[in-house]
Amino acid sequence: MSDGPTTPPTPPTPSTAETPEEEPVLGANEDELEAAGVDLDVAEAAAPDREIAVEVGENIVEVRNLTVKFGGLLALDDVSFNIRRGEILGLIGPNGAGKTTCFNAMTGVYKPTSGDVLLEGQSIKGQKQHRITRLGLARTFQNIRLFGEMTALENVVVGLDARHRTSVPGALLRLPRHTREEKSSIERGMALLEFVGIADHAADLSRSLPYGSQRRLEIARALATDPKVLCLDEPAAGFNPAEKEDLMDLIRTIRADGYTVLLIEHDMKLVMGVTDRIVVLEFGRKLADDVPQEIRNDPRVIAAYLGEPEDDVA
Ligand SMILES: Nc1ncnc2c1ncn2[C@@H]1O[C@H](COP(=O)(O)OP(=O)(O)OP(=O)(O)O)[C@@H](O)[C@H]1O
Ligand SMILES: [Mg+2]
Repeated sequence: MSDGPTTPPTPPTPSTAETPEEEPVLGANEDELEAAGVDLDVAEAAAPDREIAVEVGENIVEVRNLTVKFGGLLALDDVSFNIRRGEILGLIGPNGAGKTTCFNAMTGVYKPTSGDVLLEGQSIKGQKQHRITRLGLARTFQNIRLFGEMTALENVVVGLDARHRTSVPGALLRLPRHTREEKSSIERGMALLEFVGIADHAADLSRSLPYGSQRRLEIARALATDPKVLCLDEPAAGFNPAEKEDLMDLIRTIRADGYTVLLIEHDMKLVMGVTDRIVVLEFGRKLADDVPQEIRNDPRVIAAYLGEPEDDVA
């Protein structure tokens, strides 16, 4: 399993909204990480070190009445939901339901027609994509977007560069701070590659990587921006079942390391096993928003999304 994470996991049990007080399996916690089999040295090098204004369990993102129109098509229709700091929130729905449009409207790829998106209580609506990334909302794309002619490590360092303070002239003149930052970028970039399980590919051109490693590299690059919230758009698309399970393990590890995750995934079984809560979209509208057990048994969701008996999806 050369593509697998280096520290695969007996994953922590996902918490649910029903037991937040007794069992907040949220946020970085050394015991939890060790129990999950995470190498703490690697985790420390890769871990988020940003100040986050909201406490674990509080709303870090608020999507309010978000609406996106494409001409006459209402791709997203008055959708509201929250993401709590430390959780893995699933975003599911049939093809064309509006999941990617929701990501695009949240992360500045599309300008919402109306509604608002708040990060740590501050509106980020209408801001440019790179600014939103800097503010802490990172995402991967349904269709992989890497710099094919750059190595895996370089692709990650590009993400890290977004956080650098050196001016362009400073970089050109190789002033001491730039040299220091470059060295730490390489160390941190390697730690991130190791964290997602593809350190062996550091020096390979990203276009030559196996497909699964490219998907992992996209995640490493998004993590390099030091996100407060990581949005993954079908990160397991095109994977076989074993690869999908491996990727879900990686997502659990990412959460155990203190990140908040919004996950778009088609595979209902997969999403049930990894998320704390699930938002269901259908025809651009929110159909349901609940813990996985409730979603699994919701007749509207079964009818709309699954179109098959409950036993087949449990
Ligand atoms: N740039 C665009 N211009 C016009 N229509 C668009 C655009 N992007 C998305 N749409 C339409 O908006 C609707 C929602 O699409 P979206 O890609 O958000 O769905 P999705 O839930 O991500 O689907 P999938 O599971 O297939 O990825 C679809 O009808 C789609 O054709
Ligand atoms: Mg999509």
